[in-house]
Amino acid sequence: MSTTELIREMPQGSGTEPAPGMARVVQPGEVDLTHGVILYLDDITVSFDGFKALNRLSLAIGVGELRCIIGPNGAGKTTMMDVITGKTRPDSGKAFFGQTLDLTRLREPEIAHAGIGRKFQKPTVFEQHTVFENLELAMKTDKRVRKSLFFRLDDAARDKITDTLKLIRLDTVADRPAGLLSHGQKQWLEIGMLLMQEPKLLLLDEPVAGMTDDETMRTAELFVSLAGKHSLMVVEHDMAFVEKLGGKVTVLHEGSVLAEGDLATVQADQRVIEVYLGR
Ligand SMILES: Nc1ncnc2c1ncn2[C@@H]1O[C@H](COP(=O)(O)OP(=O)(O)OP(=O)(O)O)[C@@H](O)[C@H]1O
Ligand SMILES: [Mg+2]
Repeated sequence: MSTTELIREMPQGSGTEPAPGMARVVQPGEVDLTHGVILYLDDITVSFDGFKALNRLSLAIGVGELRCIIGPNGAGKTTMMDVITGKTRPDSGKAFFGQTLDLTRLREPEIAHAGIGRKFQKPTVFEQHTVFENLELAMKTDKRVRKSLFFRLDDAARDKITDTLKLIRLDTVADRPAGLLSHGQKQWLEIGMLLMQEPKLLLLDEPVAGMTDDETMRTAELFVSLAGKHSLMVVEHDMAFVEKLGGKVTVLHEGSVLAEGDLATVQADQRVIEVYLGR
């Protein structure tokens, strides 16, 4: 299958098409970060048949921050990411990307285009294609880049792929079909594919689940190196990983923030021990 055919086959909605009838398309440069806050959730409630998966949740993430979200099963961590990416609409509350973009009014592709990238737990790479081609494809689904690819950006595009390969530590296996990678390597490849779109905010839901200890620690190093240039929100249950990330930790419980601070502080919090760590 050629690259062009593959692009055509890719699910719509992952790209950057403006929704039909939309008055304007959000440009990535539009995100207003003047107050140092990249994401602001205010009093968000999401109900499923009367059950509040998120219950007046408020949270702010700083520009360039590496934030960990922990909490028991069912605390609402994934639901929170669903709200941020436009997959789930809150019953009430506000969600802002930068100062001005109201996420509750944007559609999923617009939110992706504005600069929020999400990684789900299961890697979704193109197994028949090489590692390099996977990154190339990820870049080409971005129409801003695709347009310029047909002109003179080929060298720049190639450089960008090479840089990303090094970053995700797959430069030595660039020509290997993605299907032959280890689980951890596939996860890194998918992170690399996200990075090709240059997201400002990355949402990562249990990124080290199923990884070996060594892969887990390497992933922590990768995320630490991404912070600053990107902002990251990482949901994880693996405390060794969370510790290695070293960022601020938010504990969710029953759809709200139970505690927030560095890992040592939240680990010493009696309420956190009761609902989560002490199980
Ligand atoms: N589409 C849905 N319909 C009904 N209930 C839902 C839906 N999505 C989530 N829930 C419920 O909302 C609550 C929060 O779920 P969520 O997946 O956000 O938790 P989580 O913190 O990600 O948990 P885990 O650590 O197990 O991934 C759970 O009780 C879940 O069953
Ligand atoms: Mg979850």
